[in-house]
This record gives sequence, C-alpha cells and structure tokens, in this order.
Amino acid sequence: MAEARTIGIFGAGWVGLVTGGCLAELGHRVIVRDVVPERIEALQAGRMPFHEPELPEVLERNRDRLHYTLDANELAEADALFVCVQTPPTYSGDADLSYVWAALDDLPQSGRRQILVMKSTVPVGTGEKVNAALEGRGLTNVGYVSNPEFLAEGSAVRDFIDPDRIVIGAFAEEDGIAVEKLYAGIEAPVVRTDVASAEMIKLAANAFLMTRISFINEIANVCEAVGADVVEVARGVGLDHRLGPHFLRAGIGYGGSCFPKDSLALKQLASNSGYHFQLLSAVIEVNELQKRRVISKLGKHLGKLRGKKIALLGLAFKAGTDDMREAPSLVLASRLLSEGADVRAWDPVANPGELMKGVVLCDSVIDAVRGADAAVIVTEWDELRGLASPEVREAMARPLIIDGRNILDPAETRRAGFAYEGVGRQPEPNSGS
Ligand code: UDX
Ligand code: UDX
Repeated sequence: MAEARTIGIFGAGWVGLVTGGCLAELGHRVIVRDVVPERIEALQAGRMPFHEPELPEVLERNRDRLHYTLDANELAEADALFVCVQTPPTYSGDADLSYVWAALDDLPQSGRRQILVMKSTVPVGTGEKVNAALEGRGLTNVGYVSNPEFLAEGSAVRDFIDPDRIVIGAFAEEDGIAVEKLYAGIEAPVVRTDVASAEMIKLAANAFLMTRISFINEIANVCEAVGADVVEVARGVGLDHRLGPHFLRAGIGYGGSCFPKDSLALKQLASNSGYHFQLLSAVIEVNELQKRRVISKLGKHLGKLRGKKIALLGLAFKAGTDDMREAPSLVLASRLLSEGADVRAWDPVANPGELMKGVVLCDSVIDAVRGADAAVIVTEWDELRGLASPEVREAMARPLIIDGRNILDPAETRRAGFAYEGVGRQPEPNSGS
C-alpha cells in the first residue's frame, strides 16, 4: 500500500475521474475539482457523467476518500496536483493549452511543497513552459512532473491499476521520487526520465499505435485487391514476437478523443520545429480515406445511394464506451446524408444528440435494419455478432451487410443469405470481383 497522501485533481473528466478514483483505491485522499457545477453536483450525488466500466464501483468503494468540489482553494492541502483537463486541437492543429493555463491560474495559495503532475497529453516543451511560468509567478514551492496517462476507454480502470509501465519525467529528482511513491502498490516498470522525453513517450506511443492501424488497414485494402484475407494475414504476422498481435485489427479507421487529436498535435509539433513528419501525415491520411471506403462498398452493391435506406450499427468510436468523439460513424453519417441516403442508426449506449442531425435513431437493431438496403457494422458491439440471423434478413429490404469491424464470419454470413463485405476479406467465391 502507498503511504496515504492528499491529492488534488484538476478536471473531473474521464481521465480525472479514473485517476482520482484509482488513486483513492491506492489509499490516498483525493479532492477532485471541476469548473462545471452540474458535473460536481452529479458526482456528489453519486451519478456518473459518462459510461466507463468498473469506474462507478471504484468511486463508490472509495467514497470516504473522495471529495468533489468547485473550489480550487480546497486543493491547498494537496501534496500533488494532477492536471487532467482537456487539450483539444486548435484550428492550426496545435494542442489548445488554454485549459491547462486556466488550471494554473486557479492554483491555490499554499506554503507547502506541492507537485503539479501533468496527466493531460501536451506537446513536448509544455513542462518547460509551465515550470518557467511557475517560477515567474514566484511559486517556488510548486514542482513539475510529467506523468502521461495510457488509459484506453472501456478498460481505463484496469489500465491504471495494471499498467504496462508508469512514465515519470521530472525536473527535480525528489519530485520524481515523490510521484513514484504515490503509485506504490502497483506492479509495473517505472520509467524515470526527463520531462521532455516523458512528454514525447506519450505522443510516440500513440503515433506508433495509429501507424499499426493504418498499416494493417492498407494491407487490408491490398488484400481486397489481390484476394488475400487480412484476418489471416494479421494472425500470421502477429505471431512474430518482434511484431506482436496487438493493434492489427483492420477496420474503418481509428477515432476517439486521443488518437486523432494527438496525431495532429505531434505532426504540428514536428512541423513547428521545421520537420515534416511524412510517415505520420500518411497515417492520418490513410485513416481519413479508410472511413470513406464504406461509401464506395455500398455504391458497388447499391449503385446511387440517393433514397437508399442505410442502417448504421454502432455509433461509439469503439465498443465499451459511449464516447463519440471523432467516431468514424460521424463521417459516415454525414457522407451518406450528403449522398441523399436515408440513414437510421442504433447504438446500445452512445447518444449523438445534435451531432447527427438528419439521422433517425432507433432503439433496437431490428428497428434500425427494418426496410434497409444495407446494414453497416460501425462499432464492434457484442450485440452485433449475431446480426446474420433469419429475423434480420427478413426485416431488411436487401440483405447486405458491410462489416466495418470484421466481427462476422464471411462464409457463415453468406450461407445465412446475406451479401457480405468486410474489410480486407476475400470476396464471395465466384463473385467475379
Ligand atoms: C482530457 C484530454 O482530452 C486528454 O488529451 C488528456 O490526456 C486528459 O484530459 P478527458 O478527461 O476525456 O481527456 O477530458 P474531458 O472529459 O473533457 O474532461 C476535462 C474536465 O476538465 C471537464 O470536466 C472540464 O469541465 C474540466 N476543466 C476544464 C476544469 O475543471 N478546469 C478547467 O480549467 C478546464
Ligand atoms: C488510446 C490508447 O490506447 C491509449 O493508450 C491512450 O491513452 C488514448 O488513446 P482509446 O482511444 O481509448 O485509447 O482506444 P483504443 O482501444 O486504443 O482504440 C483507438 C481506436 O483505434 C478505436 O477507434 C479502435 O476502434 C481503433 N483500433 C484499435 C483499430 O481500428 N484497430 C486496432 O487493432 C485497434
């Protein structure tokens, strides 16, 4: 068990709550501060602002050690202040650090030694700037540590408690040691390094993961052209211990709150310092094109899409979350609407609200596919694994499934009477395509 400390968290968003909840689980006293009154009220009343497995239980279990507030002054007694505010891209593609600066403006007056711990993903060089700003404001009692998060939505609690590594970049040795101690009780290699390298580790890890996805997506596209099956290819490739099996699932491209924005931020960071990051630019472009390939697959079967009824199955950017930030479903829906298609959509948890004007939302899969000319699997929800059923075939006007996540078995789906297109899967035998 870690020696119990008092920890302040700026930002009761997804990262802030997972971090706060898990640090409380390790035995610390945690004060979570947000600027949005409704959010704080909801948390105080025990209501979750979003869907993340295991998080409600963690927050409930550690209720006595967790406190939610709007008042930054309550963080004065904290030993460490974790910054978990959002860092969205600006129009130029740079990360918008205004929320980070706003959190700094709200730093409480405190005579004690405090460590500002940056969890949010920030460009390399941010630590240096923040440190200079702290010194400029005479806050010599506040140290700075970069401690990036590597949490994936849907498994964030597990990722925090059982991480592959903990990265800690510090200017002062004692601050690095103090932050490492906060994680006592977690079994994982600790990478102690300088601040700039810690910042870069996060950006590089994300960029590498995206590169794998765009790479396997391009292999899938070539597989389609030459008649190989990308699922088989990924299986064979992934058994090479130098390559590994992860992040080799071909599909309709990555989305989410991190990859799209962090790839732009890294590309922009490189180009601001005079380097054109060619590979990353290609990774981003491949991903954009990948989302749109579904449209040409639909066109191949249906011809013009005007007036065609298309069911989008799954809206979240991946299964296990209700998050629709940068979800491929958003691009697909607006492309389909602009082609004049009639779009119906279903998701078990995500609610697009204003994001999908013009799309009819349905409460069930069967409702979404009723009368449809095609069903597109956009998110790999378990509920969709049984999609190739007689009931669905009967309900559809045309039994066509475009499987954007390769969750169905092509042969079985075809045997069940559907036309089937996956991503990088072999065409129907004797289909001539
Ligand atoms: C964010 C970033 O998107 C990610 O890059 C980073 O690694 C971690 O932080 P997330 O937790 O999903 O991820 O953001 P979000 O759900 O938007 O939460 C941020 C919270 O901070 C919001 O509740 C917001 O109200 C709050 N906030 C923002 C503050 O409390 N103070 C501020 O000054 C600004
Ligand atoms: C990611 C990183 O995994 C995490 O370490 C980082 O802190 C934040 O960004 P997250 O966005 O929650 O986490 O989801 P992840 O599971 O990594 O998936 C990202 C996207 O890539 C999803 O749209 C997913 O569908 C897609 N993906 C993932 C693929 O298309 N193929 C794969 O093989 C893996």
